[in-house]
Amino acid sequence: MRLARRHIRLLLGGTFAMVLIAGLVYAQAQRGKYGSTTLGQLAQPAPPTLTPDSVYQVSAYPLYPPNLAEGEGRLETQSYCSLCHSTRYITMQAPLPAATWETEVGKMRKMFGAPIPDAPAAVIVKYLQAHYTPETRKP
Ligand code: HEC
Repeated sequence: MRLARRHIRLLLGGTFAMVLIAGLVYAQAQRGKYGSTTLGQLAQPAPPTLTPDSVYQVSAYPLYPPNLAEGEGRLETQSYCSLCHSTRYITMQAPLPAATWETEVGKMRKMFGAPIPDAPAAVIVKYLQAHYTPETRKP
């Protein structure tokens, strides 16, 4: 009787160990099926096929700075006011009153440290007032 129990225990234990080992082996075989034989299968996208006559090139990243209105001071504005951000910050604003543009340029210089000397700053303020106020802005 005692012997039979021992046999059953051994049998159960052995079966459990076998199942465990089989599971581990299976999992190992399934893991990371990335190889030249599995290319193009659902689990991994097929590599793009490159045709020999294609033309590949790298060119400048397309940035589209908004065109500032023509006029005196445009160059100064384009140069100084695009140091930190695009000049789109000017064109995307709702038209600002003349005094507000003066404040705005002052804010860029004093608050944000824009390195713009007095002379070009005055030119820029004039330019902005001439083209970007409710009265002067052209659609
Ligand atoms: C030293 C960097 C710097 C320079 C140079 C600069 N700006 Fe700015 N500008 C900023 C910063 C920072 C903001 C705020 C950005 C934000 O809030 O997202 C800003 C925002 C703006 C705005 C949005 C409204 C506001 O007040 O936040 C306008 C309009 C603007 N700048 C105009 C100008 C003009 C005109 C010039 C040229 C005279 C200029 N900026 C030069 C840093 C600069």
